[in-house]
Amino acid sequence: MPIKSARRSKPVRRTSVPAGKKRSQFAAPEASASTRYLQTDTYNGMRGKNWSRGWKFHPGEVERGADPALDDSSWRRLDLPHDWSIALPYREESPSGTGGGFLDGGTGWYRKTFTAPAAWRGKRIFIQFDGAYMDSRVWVNGELLGARPYGYISFEYDLTPHLKPGQPNTVAVRLENDQPTSRWYSGSGIFRNVWLTLLDPLHVDWCGLFVSTPRVERAAAIAKVNVRLRNQAAAARPASIRVEIFAPDGKRVVTLASDNRDIAADGTADMELELPVADPRLWSADEPNLYTLRAEIISGGRTADVYRTAFGIRTCAMDPREGFSLNGRGMKLNGVCLHHDLGALGSAVSARAIQRQLEIMQAMGCNAVRTSHNPPEPALLDLCDRMGLLVIDEAFDAWEESNKAANDYHRFFGEWAERDIRDMVRRDRNHPCIIMYSIGNEVHDVTTERGIQLTQKLSEWVRGEDPTRLTTHGNNYMETALEASARLDAVGYNYTTHLYDLHHAQFPHWKMYASETSSAVRTRGVYKNPEDKNVLTGPDRQCSSYDNSIVDWGTSAELSWKLVNSRKFIAGEFVWSGFDYIGEPTPYAWPAKSSYFGIVDTCGFPKDIYFFYRSRWQDQPMLHLLPHWNWREGDTVAVWAYTNCGEVELFLGKESLGVRRFEADGPEHLEWKVPFRPGVLRAVGRREGRAVARAEVRTAGEGAAVRLSADRKILSADGADLAFVTAEVVDSRGVVVPDADNRIRFTLAGPGKIAGVDNGDPICHEPYQAAERSAFHGKCLAIVRTTGRAGTIKISGMADGLKTGAVSITTK
Ligand code: GAL
Repeated sequence: MPIKSARRSKPVRRTSVPAGKKRSQFAAPEASASTRYLQTDTYNGMRGKNWSRGWKFHPGEVERGADPALDDSSWRRLDLPHDWSIALPYREESPSGTGGGFLDGGTGWYRKTFTAPAAWRGKRIFIQFDGAYMDSRVWVNGELLGARPYGYISFEYDLTPHLKPGQPNTVAVRLENDQPTSRWYSGSGIFRNVWLTLLDPLHVDWCGLFVSTPRVERAAAIAKVNVRLRNQAAAARPASIRVEIFAPDGKRVVTLASDNRDIAADGTADMELELPVADPRLWSADEPNLYTLRAEIISGGRTADVYRTAFGIRTCAMDPREGFSLNGRGMKLNGVCLHHDLGALGSAVSARAIQRQLEIMQAMGCNAVRTSHNPPEPALLDLCDRMGLLVIDEAFDAWEESNKAANDYHRFFGEWAERDIRDMVRRDRNHPCIIMYSIGNEVHDVTTERGIQLTQKLSEWVRGEDPTRLTTHGNNYMETALEASARLDAVGYNYTTHLYDLHHAQFPHWKMYASETSSAVRTRGVYKNPEDKNVLTGPDRQCSSYDNSIVDWGTSAELSWKLVNSRKFIAGEFVWSGFDYIGEPTPYAWPAKSSYFGIVDTCGFPKDIYFFYRSRWQDQPMLHLLPHWNWREGDTVAVWAYTNCGEVELFLGKESLGVRRFEADGPEHLEWKVPFRPGVLRAVGRREGRAVARAEVRTAGEGAAVRLSADRKILSADGADLAFVTAEVVDSRGVVVPDADNRIRFTLAGPGKIAGVDNGDPICHEPYQAAERSAFHGKCLAIVRTTGRAGTIKISGMADGLKTGAVSITTK
């Protein structure tokens, strides 16, 4: 396409999206204290207002629940997002089962009554839900607007025909989570935000603007803008579009207007414009530069609609031999799979909680996320755009056959798959972070003739909405799913590492990557003899924190990493999983209720394996020692070091225990067998003879005090921002007591509330929604949410026999 003429205009102030800033590389997770909080009042492409406040909720079935005349005065008042399951007790007989974490779902109703201002007359009014789990039905003033079974998808309804301007109106929502509906903890409720959008009858259709960059060169790039306009007026309307693009520093770089066109009553029209962007500042992992596009729809000389979106200018490619590259530079995808729950907050979405998860992952050297196994909360994509993280956006865990959860998506696939996957892609395609769309995870259908056709269809639907990204499938049926895989743009291997070389030789044109690796299990703070392969058979239902390769499909973190990193043609790996999640406590069942696969636990506290990945996924010198140093005199303890230094010397007190170096075919950690005596274990990591990293572990005495620390000291007083407060049981010298399990009671004064507590213990049945928690291996967590007021929040942590700890947070 020729580059159309465009004129340069004078700079204007930046509009909605802040400039991408070069981030400091790989700060420690604790350093997130200074990170700017992501405001939650909008997201990329959203024209509406957040409408999540002031709802009412009723658990269980309600007769005539949609009837506006129903007296709902006794219903619980709450603000969304909301997850009713997270507050319930664990029940062994819960239909959610082991996979769902033994927390019930069932039926629930929400209502919101509001007065439609007279000023809304003549406008179209839309309501959008970003996730309502699940099988939703929505009514306004008793009129059914529709049903949307998939609980993880964004959808909208036009309220206009049924609204009564100037009068009270009632929106009612019925949800039914007829478990088991997911193989993991889903949560239940309107667990993401709700938006209300007022538009002129002539407007950009829902997610109807797509900006892509078909040409990216050093001197100039082309931004191609495809817009679908909708005219809901009773008569034809003329329309033109004026597009402006703003650089990351806020300066307007180009403006282009289209010709006028008539759009029929109740009709749509597609328009395309191409704009040149000179000297583009590319979006990359190190410099996530974001441009902003503003499209103004003009009709009869006045503005009918304005649509804004951030976008990035970058190229990415996957080469069958060389792997993945971004802007022409090769990079390994060092990725993690993440489920959507947020630990103690359940599935009720919080942009800050997601931001913290991503910060912890990025500080490990992670550069990519797979949204296993469903469309994510949109704020996650905004965050990845801003943080420079790459994303595989995944649609489904089941197609026509169920995938080990009897009532999963297979019930709806036939009727809804096309709509759901197209909507996912339309909503997400302007995010530069997205590199692939995954049409499924371990969907068994792919081994059949029908599954091959479905692979073809799903891929076509995706490409129909966005031809610029690759389609993929995270697949563990790689022995047999060859024909289906051939219809994808990139082939994702879940485990099945024995096929890497074979398939590369057989299908040298395949673009291959490891969509799931490792699935090794471990509990934070638990150490069992690393040579004992029967460590799972003990009655404690806790795994060892040494790198385990125990579940039969799983492989140790070290081996998985090696298998991927010794092969250029494997573009990278997505470790199962970045965070522990509720449900799927494999290899255990009741009373275990949350996973053991995470690199960090449900609190966000790193397990030792976090430091293995850090040692391999980033270059800054680091050194981590395990285990703790509280053993019985005479025990021989395997001391491991994770490091990216060439050699490490270990000392017990002043005595050197020797220098260890990595060997070509040896393990990816260093090891000493050390007869225990109390004291200080110190290690020095050297590169070319120079000490560049140090670590130490001290023997702890009796617990003496509770120590509190907050991840951030200044929060937004917006009722949404969160502080993550870590409580540690320490001895009289401040050393964490590694086996402490004291129950810690949190009290709070000032403008904040406790939103949840946790300790990361997979078998702990204490409630997440409480103000006290037992420490697990010396630590637990309280999550504090701000209210709308500015001031100082003082949090105290008390435990019998220990000195009270305190921390203060300012809200403004
Ligand atoms: C995979 C699956 C994940 C999770 C994992 C646990 O096969 O795709 O969802 O179940 O196993 O190891």
